[in-house]
Amino acid sequence: MLQTETRPASLVRAETRDGIRILTLDSPPVNALGSRLCAEVIRELEAAIADSAVTAIVFAGANGLFSGGADVNEFQAPPPPGSKNIRDVIATVEKSDKTFVAAIDGNALGGALELALACDYRVGSNNARVGLPEILLGLLPGAGGTQRLPRLLSARNPMNNGLAGVQMALDMMLKGESKNATQAKGMGILDDVALGAVERAVELAKTKAGTKARVSRFTFIVLPSMTAMAHGMVPPEERGGLAAHKLIDAVEAASEMEFKYGLAHERRLFEELVRSGPAQAAIHLFFAERELGKIPNLAGDVKPKEIKSAAVVGAGTMGTGIAMVFANAGIPVSVIDVNPEQVERGRANIASTYEGQVKKGRIAADVAKARTEGVKFVGDYAAIADVDVVIEAVFESMKVKKEVFAALDKALKPGAILASNTSTLDIDEMASMTSRPGQVVGLHFFAPANIMQLLEIVRGKSTSDETLVTATALAKRLRKKGVVSGNAFGFIGNRMLFDYIREANFLLEEGATPMQIDGAMKDFGFPMGPFGMSDLSGIDVFYKISLEAPKAPYRTSEIAARLYEQGRYGQKTGKGFFIYEDGKREPVEDPGVNDLIAAESKRLGIKRRRIKDEEIVERCIYALINEGARIIEDGIAQRSSDIDLVYLNGYGFPAYRGGPMFFADQTGLHDVVRTLKSIAAQPGSDLGVWTPAPLLARLAHQGQTFSAFKGQPK
Ligand code: 3HC
Repeated sequence: MLQTETRPASLVRAETRDGIRILTLDSPPVNALGSRLCAEVIRELEAAIADSAVTAIVFAGANGLFSGGADVNEFQAPPPPGSKNIRDVIATVEKSDKTFVAAIDGNALGGALELALACDYRVGSNNARVGLPEILLGLLPGAGGTQRLPRLLSARNPMNNGLAGVQMALDMMLKGESKNATQAKGMGILDDVALGAVERAVELAKTKAGTKARVSRFTFIVLPSMTAMAHGMVPPEERGGLAAHKLIDAVEAASEMEFKYGLAHERRLFEELVRSGPAQAAIHLFFAERELGKIPNLAGDVKPKEIKSAAVVGAGTMGTGIAMVFANAGIPVSVIDVNPEQVERGRANIASTYEGQVKKGRIAADVAKARTEGVKFVGDYAAIADVDVVIEAVFESMKVKKEVFAALDKALKPGAILASNTSTLDIDEMASMTSRPGQVVGLHFFAPANIMQLLEIVRGKSTSDETLVTATALAKRLRKKGVVSGNAFGFIGNRMLFDYIREANFLLEEGATPMQIDGAMKDFGFPMGPFGMSDLSGIDVFYKISLEAPKAPYRTSEIAARLYEQGRYGQKTGKGFFIYEDGKREPVEDPGVNDLIAAESKRLGIKRRRIKDEEIVERCIYALINEGARIIEDGIAQRSSDIDLVYLNGYGFPAYRGGPMFFADQTGLHDVVRTLKSIAAQPGSDLGVWTPAPLLARLAHQGQTFSAFKGQPK
């Protein structure tokens, strides 16, 4: 007999079918398990448990998924006293004698999978995805995941005393990877996969009503050598590995302690983590990424244009890299270049990249073939007349780029978007060569384009809202983090980079060496220091960009120019700030460069001194922050979190520090300003450089943060 009772305006829908109570989580967009939803679930659960006519309870989710897990917003501040959370829901389930089944349609992540693991049975639909991604937020699964997943997988994979299952659980939690329905069933997380998860769960609940299969009652073992190995494979605690080490500790506790004590231990570790700097940084970045597509002040509901085909001008390293980005996203792309040798090199580069990926097992051979064939090489503009978007990736010279834009405008169909991959130059000047400035935009990919996640989307003065929205949607399709930037020299990233590099060079003149500076910045968490990066990108490239840059209002260092004059362009010539022996990438200190630097100090009349690593980090990072503040104030970046994403995804800023602007917020803007002033007061420091940006000074004075700052100052 079918009985339905739906309660209005609730985040949980309750329905009873043949004695089975179905509780459907319904809190758009992702049924996040926030305090209100959890309180309602507990109320519904208590009613169902007390109802003797209910024999089993099924959890399900509306809005196309089971649930995205705990509400991450609630981790940004301590919870109000008495508020409920997913742990309270699970405790209510665990206490009950009824049978519970989770019906997983779509994602069940974090706390949502933990709820499912607390049930007796789990059924997924074909599109189910389950995972414990807490580690990606600098956390560990804190609602029993570290206790139940190893127990379950150890029991379901009994060979070798269940150790293989424990290893699977550890891997899954340490990587934060989610598993699809087939994988989850194979591992034993799901008991069954069916077309309609809810219907199958109800069926199962009927046949299993009265039986219990609580994971909490299983036991398992973990070998000390396994956890020792796991500790050895994750980064050190102070370098982004804090959550990973605590997660391993929690699993160890699960094997050693009685369930309830293990759970309490996990909870304590979770509470420690949720307040930690790395977790707050990761949570900041989670929301920063979700802000990306939001462009303020658009004229109405602007829809993106459909992009079905693309072209790239220039078959150099950048051009072919960009072409591969399109091929990877399944968008047919043509590369146009008139130089046959360049075309051959480009073709070979693409083929070898995909072959390499097949060898490493990253993609299947047929995928590699389809992607390689997805890139066509053509010799003239007529062949790309019908594409929807073209990206110019030619030599970084305004003269050349203007010629290309004029030719593209003539050749391409009306409506096609013309984009430039310039890293610094004026988009408006290029747009002025066309009859369609509204359809001109910057799409600045970072090298290697097929690997780096960042894409700066540069909005010219005439770029239409439709073009901008199309570029943002395209970035998502290309699986890039598309950050909108104003059209200012260097956009967001390189504009800040100039300040960072300037400071690193001044530090050289004052007494530091390239090796010391790179070491200090690597200790801070960058994968490479400013001079290793200059050598990798090419000192010649930096030098040529500096020729096109607007004149700085302060003196600039000439050390890089001296190296350029000597033909020391970096890794490509085997010598730059460092020496690279026999084509190796490992930098070796060059005493000759240290002498050259000392000679520069002498020429400038600077008395060299011993510089501490802390000063190096402070000056390089604070230079970034001060310029970042100007960038927000000038409206070049839409929000401070965009700057953080640029620095993280384009320049290697350590994720566990959240980006330069978040780092400044965590330090306290008042302290940042005080330090800027103390640097400015040092003899020889250029006051123009270190004067706090007006926005920074104002926010510091108001006790505010960059994150909380919305809108442009008046
Ligand atoms: N908490 C709060 N908000 C969330 C959320 C969560 N767990 N998951 C997603 N959202 C919000 C997003 O911020 C976004 O909001 P907006 O529209 O206002 O910008 C909206 O939901 C849609 O998110 P996406 O744009 O990411 O939507 P997708 O459809 O692309 O992806 C998803 C959906 C796969 C669920 C993805 O959002 C996701 O991976 N979410 C995070 C999952 C996660 O990390 N869960 C663990 C939480 S921590 C936890 O559970 C702790 C526990 O162990 C105690």
